[in-house]
Amino acid sequence: MKKLLRVLGWILGVLVVAWLGVCAYLSVRHPRVSFTAAELAMPPVPLPKGFLWGTATSSHQLEGGNTNDWTRFEAQPGAIERGETSAVSADHWNRMAEDVALMKAIQANAYRFSIEWSRLEPREGAWNEEAWARYGDLVRQLREAGITPVVTLLHFSLPLWMADRGGVAAPEFPARFGRFAAEAGKRLGPRVDLWITLNEPNVQMYMGYVIGTWPPQRKAPREALPAFAGLLRGHAAAAAALRAADPGARIGVANNLMLLEPRSRLVLTDWLAAGFLDQFWNWSFADAVRDGRARLRLPGATLDERLDGLVGSVDFFGLNYYFRYLVRMAPGSPEMVVMTPGPGPRSELGGTSPVGDSPPEALFLLMREAWKRYRLPIYVTEGGIADDQGTMRGPLIRGQVEAIQRARAAGVPVGGYFHWTLVDNFEWEKGYRPRFGLYRLDRQTLARTPAGGADVFADLAPR
Ligand code: FCB
Repeated sequence: MKKLLRVLGWILGVLVVAWLGVCAYLSVRHPRVSFTAAELAMPPVPLPKGFLWGTATSSHQLEGGNTNDWTRFEAQPGAIERGETSAVSADHWNRMAEDVALMKAIQANAYRFSIEWSRLEPREGAWNEEAWARYGDLVRQLREAGITPVVTLLHFSLPLWMADRGGVAAPEFPARFGRFAAEAGKRLGPRVDLWITLNEPNVQMYMGYVIGTWPPQRKAPREALPAFAGLLRGHAAAAAALRAADPGARIGVANNLMLLEPRSRLVLTDWLAAGFLDQFWNWSFADAVRDGRARLRLPGATLDERLDGLVGSVDFFGLNYYFRYLVRMAPGSPEMVVMTPGPGPRSELGGTSPVGDSPPEALFLLMREAWKRYRLPIYVTEGGIADDQGTMRGPLIRGQVEAIQRARAAGVPVGGYFHWTLVDNFEWEKGYRPRFGLYRLDRQTLARTPAGGADVFADLAPR
């Protein structure tokens, strides 16, 4: 008996040591969210003159007056907080010249915006010439103001006819989206060099097909897989069409990345949960583009498929960054994991409820990891904060610029920063309460006035 206890004691001891050893190894491999002494010792280098310095917007959120899958969704009672809709938003569609002047006033030299597919092709195969002309004119105005246009083809919202056929999961989606991209390349290509085919495909898939709180409101992992593959095929078709229209086009995807860390560095299951989520959320789409192979694992459904047209389809890595989370495995909870914000200052994405924190060091680590994985130039295609009082935005911009400068000093080629966003706008299901704008929107008069942080943005512009 005594012998048995001793043996068991030994086994337990070995297991504990092994456990701690694995955790220690993982801790060394995954640095904490802070700059190392060596990184801090490197002086941040000023942003070079050609660095793209701009704001980012999306058509559905800013323009007003759209008719698409989102407007149909917004009409459902309870879909959008306080029953708000995108009907007017910031009326950008009728105020483009005014908004270009706002960009100039804060020293921007670039502008990322999306062109609204549902406006440009309201019925399948029928182009809306007036809408193409309006975007063409926006590009002309930007060029005249010395502002480099960066065009996103799909920022979540779909034409109704595409949504009715099954949206991004429909077998015909890649071809239809490719045709739209070809038209965009033909019409805008001569004056646009930088293209983003998709905004945050991971968010589109997750919100629309995994938790189902966004259109098309499906909550079925089995349907998420065709959506994921459809977005990849759509990207490949769009990239090929853009290159055919304009061989000089530079193409990327705007990826939503979060820094996901284990809540406790001593709990192996927290490491597993953080590692699984990190691969699922941050890298599965970009890895598929790099490898030409779509791989995704969801509870009860697995995808592993080779896809044509992905390898070599991107020239840069677009990085949208908002949050860092601490992750804990929680077998009792519906999602099996629980995510909590870290200890830093919180963003007020829900207006009153803080949903996450945004440490600049996390942006630094994500840029470094993306560079290590893909060896592509990086543009920070979004970074920003919901900040009604206007007190957090300035420090956030300073922190993010410092992260970029330190990354550049460490050899990561970061070529631009796009602050989300120019003017307060329709923040999807959260309506108008989260205020992300460098300009504050008066929703009655639609007047725009500089918000807290606009001065910092202007001061830090590369000169
Ligand atoms: C990003 C979206 C953008 C906006 C910001 C706050 O994830 O790309 O449309 O909603 O969040």
